[in-house]
Amino acid sequence: MAEILDGKACAKEILSDIKAQVEKMTRKPSLAVILVGDDEASKIYVKNKEKTALELGFKSKTYRLEKNTTAQELKDLILNLNLDVDTDAILLQLPLPKHLKAQEFIELIDPKKDVDGFHPINCGKLLTDTNPYAISCTPKGVIKLLEKNNIEISGKHCVVIGRSNMVGKPLSILLLNKNATVTMAHSKTKNLSQTAKTADILISATGVSNLIKKDFVKEGAVVVDVGISRDSEGKIKGDVDFLEVSKVASHITPVPGGVGPMTIAMLMENTLELCLKNAKF
Ligand code: GUN
Repeated sequence: MAEILDGKACAKEILSDIKAQVEKMTRKPSLAVILVGDDEASKIYVKNKEKTALELGFKSKTYRLEKNTTAQELKDLILNLNLDVDTDAILLQLPLPKHLKAQEFIELIDPKKDVDGFHPINCGKLLTDTNPYAISCTPKGVIKLLEKNNIEISGKHCVVIGRSNMVGKPLSILLLNKNATVTMAHSKTKNLSQTAKTADILISATGVSNLIKKDFVKEGAVVVDVGISRDSEGKIKGDVDFLEVSKVASHITPVPGGVGPMTIAMLMENTLELCLKNAKF
């Protein structure tokens, strides 16, 4: 049976270290979260982020904007937060309502306050392995979880399924920068199960529940489940058929309690790091 990669426990340790560090700081890290509209999942995520930030002693302010907020109103808020010396980190919760184009607003955020690492400057710095101000939280959390569990990345064949800007692409680059051989697979990949089965480390980030069956996984592979979807009863499901895949994998992340808590921990770590760098600007 596979060993569980316990993201909840790992995140708890990281958060407790951050809290200890923040206690010693006179100027506390401050996170601004912008939530536009009333997407139910986003409302829950944002509440969790705010709660965790406050528990760590951060300053946290959430800007809840109406669904029909105009592009100009959102732009003005972001530009004001860029100028606000008391704001270290800005998070624009995605997705945005349809009339607002996410990329346009991501590009308005000061890269030095871009806690998600989504700004093209930070994506470019990630690509060139030249110290981004922040690295996208979920990919960073996946790497941390592997490293904390002493799973070697260098030289391994990693197959990443899913090519989103938020997870699949940045995660593939992070793995490459850590000397993995990386295959990026996606919805148009032919023979997905055969490709997946060549992985030493298989990472699925599609949101298609039960996509990853036992026959997708090489004996002894490490399996990381980044997928989140909900079944008909509203229960959170990952991409991986956990019970079946546990029989062949060496290590596996559960959903919930795997990558999810690591994402929040990395958001907090990024906020702290931006605050510390901000003090030096
Ligand atoms: N929506 C779902 N996940 C994320 C995330 O990591 N960052 C932002 N900004 N929005 C999200």
